[in-house]
Amino acid sequence: MSEFFELIKTRQSCRNFDSERAVENEKLIKVIRAALLSPSAVNSQPWHFTVVNSKEKSKEVAKAVQKAGSNEFTSSCPAFIIINEEETNIFSKEGKKVIGQEFASNDIGIAVAHIILAAQSVALSTCIMGRFDEQEIKKICDIHKGKRIRLIIAIGYAKNDEFRIKSRKPETETVTYIID
Ligand SMILES: Cc1cc2nc3c(=O)[nH]c(=O)nc-3n(C[C@H](O)[C@H](O)[C@H](O)COP(=O)(O)O)c2cc1C
Repeated sequence: MSEFFELIKTRQSCRNFDSERAVENEKLIKVIRAALLSPSAVNSQPWHFTVVNSKEKSKEVAKAVQKAGSNEFTSSCPAFIIINEEETNIFSKEGKKVIGQEFASNDIGIAVAHIILAAQSVALSTCIMGRFDEQEIKKICDIHKGKRIRLIIAIGYAKNDEFRIKSRKPETETVTYIID
């Protein structure tokens, strides 16, 4: 199997980070640059990534994530990537008017997929998080209060990377092939 398919197969959400093992900034930059190469509707790139890899600030981010009532595992996570939505460009806005599709969330989702797979390729583990105290995160990271934070990614080395069998809906339910 190619390395790419192996990456997809072995990636899994990490909820057991090694607090003793710091993440190299160089690796985080590599991962972010993979996100920046991500496609987006009319190349709008409606995102901003805030990378937190700081003993003090990472603890504050973990607390703000947990304030939403879950994700306790972030206490041992050394780094985070916060993704906020930026204005889409005029062409993307036009597309929304014409076909009634909002593209920014799709674009951010694709960029996040780049991040988690790029991380996996440099032996880092991740967990995407949709629950966090948005206002608190904005204060900690100095993100303008008018912006929407869409997702936060916990990133670090896994303490225990025992592979879990993937739980997915059956393909018969989720795929229709119309093929010759
Ligand atoms: C948009 C989104 C939000 C998520 N939010 C959380 C979260 O807040 N906490 C968490 O532990 N996992 C979260 N996850 C991870 C999912 O639970 C996980 O991807 C799913 O169960 C599949 O497991 P796997 O990633 O190990 O393959 C989120 C995933 C996505 C895509």
